[in-house]
Amino acid sequence: MSSFPSPRSSILNISPYVGGDVIPPGFTRCIGLSSNENPFGPSPFVKDVLSAEINKIHFYPNSNATVLRQEISNFYNIDPSWVLCGNGSEDTLHLLARTYASEGDEIIFAESAFGLYQIATLAVGAKPVVVPRENFKLSPEAILQKITPQTKIIYLDHPGNPVGNFLHKDDLLKLVQKIPSTVLIVLDAAYAEYLEGVEGYTSGIELVSEFSNVVMARTFSKAYALAGLRLGWIYANPTILDPVNRIRPPFNVTSLTQSAGIEALKDQAWVKKAMDHNAIWRPWFEREIEKLGLSFIPCYANFSMVNFSDKVSDVYQFLGKNGIIVRPMGAYNLPTYLRITIGQTHEMEELVSLLNKFYTQSV
Ligand SMILES: Cc1ncc(COP(=O)(O)O)c(C=O)c1O
Repeated sequence: MSSFPSPRSSILNISPYVGGDVIPPGFTRCIGLSSNENPFGPSPFVKDVLSAEINKIHFYPNSNATVLRQEISNFYNIDPSWVLCGNGSEDTLHLLARTYASEGDEIIFAESAFGLYQIATLAVGAKPVVVPRENFKLSPEAILQKITPQTKIIYLDHPGNPVGNFLHKDDLLKLVQKIPSTVLIVLDAAYAEYLEGVEGYTSGIELVSEFSNVVMARTFSKAYALAGLRLGWIYANPTILDPVNRIRPPFNVTSLTQSAGIEALKDQAWVKKAMDHNAIWRPWFEREIEKLGLSFIPCYANFSMVNFSDKVSDVYQFLGKNGIIVRPMGAYNLPTYLRITIGQTHEMEELVSLLNKFYTQSV
């Protein structure tokens, strides 16, 4: 009988992540609306640079992503020494937990928050402390009540995924002011580009220079449509980043990804087109949902959270068998909801036509 080496015990409490790329048996993926990707794909500049850069992949990438960090800094008017890049923002979120928390520590995040926070917490043996939401909204008071001397990190998905709301910038500032400076506050602004111009929203970028315990996390997976290449970054005081850099795998961002990120940033017109599309089609979809007598959680990013009540699994199966994959939300304790990414025009029209067909047939 052979025995196996044991993992850290908290790791066995992690439920393996099930991504939107997992196609259930019997489904054929034609239209993927399950992972909040940008349906238009990346800028043509990105495709061009990738074809050129493919000839250089026998070289290691630049281990500090120097040019990319400079370009990000130029774009956001920040200092490159305050920027650290990762293999998707998930990489940077994990790195923060590994750097700043360990067994016995506590990490706070909201109920139905982005699932990675729980995984990153348990991976380092820390205790997840889940803050209830009020009517799906974040409550600053509830967050403050959960802080103890063991609290090391607060992850705030801002706006949230799958519950897509945010704290008004005045409330966010007041909250940050009240949190002890020894607690790292990670503002995960993965969808910030979609909220450009939304009254009261901030990614928190201006808080980073003012509060040394605030980190802003961003991704190129959403607005920039580089999810498959994996590129995220964090913006924080260099004193916060220095220990993170010590454990960061030196080549965590591939050369292709670095070049793609640089080109993607240059094509803001391309990004704007996708953001404008989302600004029209998310409200359109929500109106269609209301016409069907269904409710949804108000969201600001590139998805809708629709409550299908007791019909949820029938709707999921019906859409899937007709080629549209959406995301069940049981894992987020919202079992009657499906999270639906806003796709291209023809995809949204097809989706709504299928939903109409489903509800006509089932009455
Ligand atoms: C709130 C939030 N943060 C982070 C991420 C991860 O992004 P990335 O693809 O950069 O790892 C996601 C992805 O869906 C997300 O919804």
